[in-house]
Amino acid sequence: MNKKIIILIIAIVIIVVAGIGSWVISSNNRTESINNSNTNTNTNENNNETTNGKKIGIIYFSATGTTKKVAGYIKDATGGDLIEIVPKDEYTDSDLNYGNDNSRANKEQNDLNARPEIKNNINTDSYDVIYLGYPIWWGDVPKIILTFLDSHNLNGKIVIPFCTSGSTSISGSLSTLKNYNKNVTWIDGKRFASGASQNEVINWVNKLDY
Ligand SMILES: Cc1cc2nc3c(=O)[nH]c(=O)nc-3n(C[C@H](O)[C@H](O)[C@H](O)COP(=O)(O)O)c2cc1C
Repeated sequence: MNKKIIILIIAIVIIVVAGIGSWVISSNNRTESINNSNTNTNTNENNNETTNGKKIGIIYFSATGTTKKVAGYIKDATGGDLIEIVPKDEYTDSDLNYGNDNSRANKEQNDLNARPEIKNNINTDSYDVIYLGYPIWWGDVPKIILTFLDSHNLNGKIVIPFCTSGSTSISGSLSTLKNYNKNVTWIDGKRFASGASQNEVINWVNKLDY
């Protein structure tokens, strides 16, 4: 056989073998990366189960809807149950007039013993973690939050306060809550402004470690 033809046949064989070889290697890599991504997904799922195996309730009072909106964002972020604390006597605009010393809200906040009644039954038994939301009233929790604490045994649970306000921080209300029930594991919560975005709330929720 002609020398040139032999060299040509050898070259074709090398090209074919090399082509098949590189396809085999790349398909192995693909399989490996698919396997890895499955492993990662599983790991994440397992981590989520460990971190979020706890049952979550988002329980809030909101007189004008601002805290309610944040509570909804927390529900979306956690998948927890959303429960509103509904006052037996709903607050009217004049009840909420903080410019009037005699408005219902102002009188309640000035009365150590005020415990406005709650209309709905709220069962907290199954929750390991409770996000507790409220508007800031005169730097503190609205008294109906104390009614809620009086009527529910949260001992041993993790409770994460969150609030909305015009400008006041959460700190005064946090000390009220921590002193009110020392058998709860209180996690320092967060105050949101009325324009809080869903992303701000999600970022906060994702950083919490419980
Ligand atoms: C009686 C009363 C007292 C308030 N006191 C404060 C306050 O001390 N500091 C503040 O920043 N905002 C204060 N606010 C404003 C509310 O905290 C704010 O509007 C809140 O986001 C309302 O939430 P809601 O819509 O969930 O009821 C007060 C509002 C009311 C009605």
